[in-house]
Amino acid sequence: MKPNVSPLTEARTAYKPKLPKVLFAKSLTLKKGKPTKSVADQAEIKKLFPNTYGQSEVFLAPGKGGIQCKKPITVALVLSGGQAPGGHNVVAGLFDGLKKLNKKNVLLGYKGGPSGLLEDKKVEITDKFLAGYRNTGGFDIIGSGRTKLETEEQFESVRKNLMAVGASALVVVGGDDSNTNAAVLGEYFKAKNYPITVVGCPKTIDGDLKNNEIEVSFGFDTATKVYAELTGNVQSDCLSAKKYWHFVKLMGRSASHIALEVALKCHPNLCLISEEVAANKWTLAQVTEKVARVVADRAERRKNYGVVVIPEGLLEFIPEMKKLIGELNDHLAHNKDFEALESAGAKIEFVKGHLTGEARDAFQALPPSIQAQLLADRDPHGNVQVSKIDTEKLLIEAVDILLKKWKKENKYSGKFSSQGHFFGYEGRCAAPSNFDADYCYALGFTASHLAAAGLTGYLSSVRDLLKPAAQWRAGGVPLTMMMNLERRHGKDKPVIQKAMVELNGKPYKTFLASRDKWALEDEYQSPGPIQYWGPSSVADLVPETLKLEKGKK
Ligand code: FBP
Repeated sequence: MKPNVSPLTEARTAYKPKLPKVLFAKSLTLKKGKPTKSVADQAEIKKLFPNTYGQSEVFLAPGKGGIQCKKPITVALVLSGGQAPGGHNVVAGLFDGLKKLNKKNVLLGYKGGPSGLLEDKKVEITDKFLAGYRNTGGFDIIGSGRTKLETEEQFESVRKNLMAVGASALVVVGGDDSNTNAAVLGEYFKAKNYPITVVGCPKTIDGDLKNNEIEVSFGFDTATKVYAELTGNVQSDCLSAKKYWHFVKLMGRSASHIALEVALKCHPNLCLISEEVAANKWTLAQVTEKVARVVADRAERRKNYGVVVIPEGLLEFIPEMKKLIGELNDHLAHNKDFEALESAGAKIEFVKGHLTGEARDAFQALPPSIQAQLLADRDPHGNVQVSKIDTEKLLIEAVDILLKKWKKENKYSGKFSSQGHFFGYEGRCAAPSNFDADYCYALGFTASHLAAAGLTGYLSSVRDLLKPAAQWRAGGVPLTMMMNLERRHGKDKPVIQKAMVELNGKPYKTFLASRDKWALEDEYQSPGPIQYWGPSSVADLVPETLKLEKGKK
C-alpha cells in the first residue's frame, strides 16, 4: 500500500473492474478481420511501413490452443506523455493478463517515460508493488515523460536494453504522437528481425486519439467529469452571487473535445470551439466581440454574470495568432541576441523589430502581460508554449476594453466583473471513474494478450463501450490503419491522424442546437463529483460525446 492513503483510496483499491465477458475465458484465441489500409496516403504509408502495413484487425475470442505462454515471457512497459486517469489500471490489467497466461511472466516498468527505456531505469512490477495503485489516479507507479523515441540511435538503445532483459514485447501507453513513434519502432524492429514486438494503448485526456476503431482515449471520461464538476460549481456560485463573469480555460492542447464535453454536461453561457473559430477564420477581435455580445445581451436582462468556457488551444486556431506564433518560433528559437536580453520590455521591443505584417499587428494588439508570456515560456526547442498562455485573462482584458468602448457609445450599460480560472492539472490525475477504471483494465489485459500473441504495430482496442462492460469487444487495431501524412517542420511525416471536433458531428451539432438558449437563460447543469458507488445511472455514466457519436439518439 502507498503511504498516506485516504479512506477513499483505500476503498477504491478494492474495486474490481467490470470486464468484457470474453476476457474471463479460460483460454483466448485471435480472430482476424480483413487486411487494413491507412486512413489516407495509402501508397506512401505502405512504403514507409513495408513490414507492418496492411495487417488485419484482430479480436479476442474464447478458444483453446490460441494465445499461450508455455515459456514465460518478459514484457516492458512505458507510460508516455501527459498523465491520464486510469493509467494504473492499464498496468494492473496488463500485469493480471500476463500472470493469467503464465505465473512466471514478468512485467518490467520503465521509469519516467521513454527516457527510462534509453537510460535503462526499470522496476519489476509485482503483485505487492501494484496492490496500492489499483484504481488510483496518477502515473506515479513508474512515472511518465515526454522524451520522444524517434532516432535510429534511440531505437538501438531501446533494443539493447530490452534484449539484455530478454523482453519480447514493449507496451507503450501514449497519445497519438507516442503511438506514432511506437509504430515506427515496431516497424524498425521487424525490419531488422529483432525479436521485440511493440503494442500501444490509447491514452490522453484530450480525447483526440479516436476513430472508428478507438471509440475514446482513456482518461477523457474522468478528466471531463472533474472539469464539469468544477465548472458546475462555478456556475452555481455565479447564480448565487450574481456578480461575476467566470472565464474558465480547460485543458486540451489542441482539439476542443474537453471543452465541448464540459459544455454538453454543464450548459454554460458560452463555450468557444477552436475548430469553429478556425473554420470561420475568426480574428481575435471577432472572438472578443462574440463574447462581449453575450455579456451585453445578458446585461440587458439584468444578468451581469455568466460562465464562458475556453479551450486551451484556442489561440493557435485564430489565424493571425497562428501566424504570430509561427513567426516567433522561426525568429526566436535559439536566437542568441534575443536570449541575451534580460527585461521583458527589451524582449518585446526586439520582437517588434523582427515580426512582419499581420503577425506584428497581432502582437501589438496584445496586452503587455500576454506579450511577455509569449516570450517567456518557451519549450526546450525554443518554441512558444501556447498552453501556458493565460488565454482566459487575455479574453477578459479584451472583452473589458470592448465593453468600455460600448459603454461610451451607449451600447452597453452593464457591469463587468470577472474571474479567470484554468482547470487542467486538477483533472488529469484524478482517481479514475468506474468507466475509466473498467476500460483501462480491459485495455491493459487485452494488450497483454496481443503482446503474448507476438503481434507488433497494434493498438489495444476495446469497443462497444456504450454497452455494459460484459459485452465490450476486445482486440487490436493496426497502428498504420490510423495513419496519414502530415506536414511537420517542412517535411511530410507519417502520423496517427488526430481527431479534431467535427463540425458536422453530433456532439457539436447538439451543442449548436442549444447554445443560443444557454447564452441567455440560466440553464446551468451541475454534474457534481464523480460517483464511484450507487445506482449505475450515476456511477457508470459515460461521456456525452461518446453517447452522441456512437449512440442511436
Ligand atoms: P497528452 O496528449 O500527452 O496525454 O497530454 C495532454 C495534456 O494534458 C494536454 O491537455 C496539455 O496541454 C498538456 O498535456 C500539458 O502537459 P505538460 O504539463 O507536460 O505541458
